[in-house]
Amino acid sequence: MPIQISAALRTMPFEDAIERILLDAPTIQARISAMGTEIADLYRGHDLLVISVLKGSIIFMADLIRAINIPHEIDFMATSSYGAGSKSSGVVRILKDLNKSIEGRNVLIVEDIIDSGNTLDYLVRILQERQPASLRIVTLLDKPDRREVVMPVDWVGFSIPNDFVVGYGLDYNEIYRNLPYIGVLRPHVYSGVREDQTAELHKRKED
Ligand code: IMP
Ligand code: MG
Repeated sequence: MPIQISAALRTMPFEDAIERILLDAPTIQARISAMGTEIADLYRGHDLLVISVLKGSIIFMADLIRAINIPHEIDFMATSSYGAGSKSSGVVRILKDLNKSIEGRNVLIVEDIIDSGNTLDYLVRILQERQPASLRIVTLLDKPDRREVVMPVDWVGFSIPNDFVVGYGLDYNEIYRNLPYIGVLRPHVYSGVREDQTAELHKRKED
């Protein structure tokens, strides 16, 4: 069922839509710098392919790879959830696949946020079948309370409470990706969205 989005949402000023800033830009940058150093230390002297899962991770990816101060390649994938249900089924469709084989390569998946973990769990299975030398995961945000599958994550930027957050790549109905911080949406931004659709906000059709 498609989410009905009011035209007002598309033009609502940021200050009316955002309740509070959860993570400001300097806080995000400091954490990314630390993670980039750790990642570079781990892979130094080895081949590395960094994969961004579109679209939510693009801003994080752009900052993270500049903090990983060793030579590496990048590639992109896009996925979407199957079905119209309000629950993440764990079955994902590949909208855009990688450009090259990952066989024998050290792969690092870059995610924006891990919620139920179903999407990433499925993606990891698909990529493991392609026999990379290693497969690790870095996510900017983690909502551990909502996890439905056991998902070993190698680097977590920030563990956050179960609020719907936007900004720094993360969207609500494709809006707010360009905010330089991670913010919590005001409840009135959700009003007008039917009860049975609110659950779907936590599991977006296209990441
Ligand atoms: P899951 O881990 O399979 O449940 O889905 C994770 C995906 O849901 C993420 O990649 C995001 O696209 C989306 N998502 C989950 N929580 C949020 C949120 O708080 N804000 C924006 N997108 C979210
Ligand atoms: Mg995503």
